[in-house]
Amino acid sequence: MPVVKSIHHVAVVVSDMEQSLSFWRDALGIELHELRDVPAEKSQVAFLPLAGAEVELVMPTTDDSGIAKYLARRGQGMHHLCLEVDDIEGMLAQLKAKNIRLINEEPRTAADGKKYAFIHPESTGGVLVELYQL
Ligand code: CO
Repeated sequence: MPVVKSIHHVAVVVSDMEQSLSFWRDALGIELHELRDVPAEKSQVAFLPLAGAEVELVMPTTDDSGIAKYLARRGQGMHHLCLEVDDIEGMLAQLKAKNIRLINEEPRTAADGKKYAFIHPESTGGVLVELYQL
């Protein structure tokens, strides 16, 4: 059986990266590990790792992406919770067998080789859940 290993990150959607970093980095004092453009997701992402999990700030860089629409509709705030699994294909198959609604039926591969997929909030009690296999 596929196993959920840990919470990998919590993602927050923001409209102004510098303003958001003035809280997370400057006021709380969490080290900014990396600020990266992710063209595939039409966004800029700030990675702020802590022991065991990280905070990610996601800012859309265009108006037409899913995350841009989310920001326009719901405003800034919590976007998704990411769980690390040991076998993402196996987990997606297990979820499908239990009639869980998936946004990505097959895992996608990030630029750095990580596999990821999203589970629809309709099936999770309102939380967008991302799965990662490192
Ligand atoms: Co994520």
